[in-house]
Amino acid sequence: MMAAASKTFEDVKSVILSAHKNATAKDKVDFYNCWAKNYEQDLVLLEYRAANLAASRVSSHFSGFPEAAFVLDVACGTGLVAKQMKENGFEHFVGVDGSEGMLERARETGLYQDLKLSIMGKEPLPAEWANSFDVVLIVGALSPSQVPVPVVRDLCRTTKPGGYICMTTRGNQDNLQYKTSLENELTQMEKEGLWTCVEVTDVENWEKAVAEFEDGYIPGTVYLYKKSV
Ligand SMILES: C[S@@+](CC[C@H](N)C(=O)[O-])C[C@H]1O[C@@H](n2cnc3c(N)ncnc32)[C@H](O)[C@@H]1O
Repeated sequence: MMAAASKTFEDVKSVILSAHKNATAKDKVDFYNCWAKNYEQDLVLLEYRAANLAASRVSSHFSGFPEAAFVLDVACGTGLVAKQMKENGFEHFVGVDGSEGMLERARETGLYQDLKLSIMGKEPLPAEWANSFDVVLIVGALSPSQVPVPVVRDLCRTTKPGGYICMTTRGNQDNLQYKTSLENELTQMEKEGLWTCVEVTDVENWEKAVAEFEDGYIPGTVYLYKKSV
């Protein structure tokens, strides 16, 4: 991959499109291992705002002491979500990601007390993490060939009763089928009494479009749920 300084949005677009063609979660993780070094600079060109938006939605509803809260950042990547949450007063982070390259960057932030290599959908989060976290986030990873929809049940399981679960997904064409399945599962879990929906935030200018048939910005959504007590 080329030096970040000389990159244009068109370069970033072709990097991301090459990932969209990858079929399996393992392919995607290999892609992120290669991308880790340039990921954050490239996301500036993409005008990626998901981490910022998710952290701000959680913070505006969280009523406890953020500095005392335990936050689980699933698919944490290089640590953008923890950085944003830290700006909102949160201090204790545990991260999980399937890419060792991304985890290495997250480790360099010094923000995480624990970082775990794990492919979500292939293995569950540790049983001992049940009911442990005040806030659980998954940002930028709920999409086809990344994290499968049923994993949201695992996110709920690791959240403390009364805690928050924050999830994001894209609303562009190639993610619409996945988004529908995700929303069906979120609603089903609410019917089962596992959690209640606090807020669904649709955002028009989520990030710049990269698909050939799309232009301008694509939409995205932040879902915020509260685990039942
Ligand atoms: C777009 S990045 C988002 C990273 C970070 N949450 C952020 O907002 O910058 C997606 C991340 O999900 C991870 N990922 C994708 N599929 C995964 C899976 N099945 N299990 C664990 N991590 C996965 C990738 O390794 C990558 O770090």
